[in-house]
Amino acid sequence: MNKKVSAVYPGSFDPPTNGHLDIITRASRLFPEIIVAVTENSVKNHMFSLEKRVELLKKSVSDIKNVKVISFSGLLADYLEKIDSFILIRGLRALSDFEYEFQMALMNRKLNKNIETVFLMPDQDYTFLSSSMVKEIAALGGKIEELVPECVADEFNK
Ligand code: COA
Repeated sequence: MNKKVSAVYPGSFDPPTNGHLDIITRASRLFPEIIVAVTENSVKNHMFSLEKRVELLKKSVSDIKNVKVISFSGLLADYLEKIDSFILIRGLRALSDFEYEFQMALMNRKLNKNIETVFLMPDQDYTFLSSSMVKEIAALGGKIEELVPECVADEFNK
């Protein structure tokens, strides 16, 4: 067992939503330290810069003591090795997430056999939520206040 027991919650978080926060909160009760690791997803065109996403996440989790937010580039498996952490947190919202998550968990384990992925289920209120949906609703003038942390809603209102 590694000493620090930090668990890493990776994602692009473009933008962070209440669903992400729900997973972070649940994970923070299970592990001594949660590292929210923000990165670029090479198949997505991001709306917010990496720096902005880190800033928004830091504001969103400021009241949870054992959570820190960082950014990384390159392979997640390499980042975990670098920080000597082998626990990945992922959210499973619906059955439709399963195939992709299963593939990613096994690939990460192939890249580094020590990596274990722990899946958490968000509150059912967030099972339909995604970052793209938030961006689309905001772009079309819909209300996003109940879907994202206050600082994220403020960012859209700017
Ligand atoms: N609540 C709300 N939304 C959620 C959610 C939750 N609990 N969990 C996931 N989502 C949303 C995300 O916002 C995202 O929405 P979007 O597609 O509209 O942007 C969508 O569900 C998919 O999320 P996720 O699978 O976490 O994608 P991601 O882009 O956020 O993260 C990485 C994928 C970054 C973890 C992955 O690409 C990665 O590890 N990259 C590093 C390179 C690497 O190692 N690649 C090999 C991996 S095996």
